[in-house]
Order: sequence, then structure tokens, then C-alpha cells
Amino acid sequence: MPLIWNDTLATGIRQIDLQHQELIELINTLEDAHASGQRQAALEDVLPKLSAYVLFHFATEEAMMSKSLGDHAERHRRQHQVFTDRIEVLRYTPPERIDLAELIAYLKQWLIEHIMKTDRELARLITG
Ligand SMILES: [Fe+2]
Repeated sequence: MPLIWNDTLATGIRQIDLQHQELIELINTLEDAHASGQRQAALEDVLPKLSAYVLFHFATEEAMMSKSLGDHAERHRRQHQVFTDRIEVLRYTPPERIDLAELIAYLKQWLIEHIMKTDRELARLITG
């Protein structure tokens, strides 16, 4: 099942919402490639794109975090780090040992939960 962006994922910050839509698009592309048996394309084409975009997106959010956010910034950055580590480790994993179905399920679940809880909280703190 592809991820579908909807209002429950909206943070109200346009730049972040657009980037989240792009992330969802990339995860859906990864899932499509996997579902249609294009494992090599998924691993060598889509996954590196997704990985680069994740870093770009996290940097965008983290640049918005000022000291006035209290413990939110530290918690938020830690969550980003856990996710980044999970993706980075794939670079050193032999391709035949990557379980794409499991990875896709993780990416989807993490992203939705993170947006709904942490990113929306960030937006609330920034925009008041
Ligand atoms: Fe975030």
C-alpha cells in the first residue's frame, strides 16, 4: 500500500510539508520497484536518492531549530540520527542481505510516526 499524504500529516510549514511529500513519493517509488521485482533499481537507484534526500530534509528541519525550543531540538535530532544510521548501515551491507520488504515497512512506519508526533510538535513550537 502506497503512502498517501493527507492533512493529518500537515505541519503547516510549507517548505517542510513539500519535502515530506517528496519523501513519501520516494518511499512509494522504492516500494513500486520492489513490488515489480526491480530489486537492482530499488537498491542502486532509488535507495541512494532517498538517502540523499533524507539528509537534505533533516538539515532543513534542524536549521529551523533554535535554542528556544528547549529539549525538543535534542530529542528531534536524536530521532533523525537513529533513522540516518538505519539507512547509512545499508551502504556497508552486502546487497543480497538487504531485506527490502522489511526496510520499506520500517521507512513508512518511522516517517509517518515522526511527522505526526515530532515534526508537528516542531511546527507548533516554531509558529506558536
Ligand atoms: Fe523531523
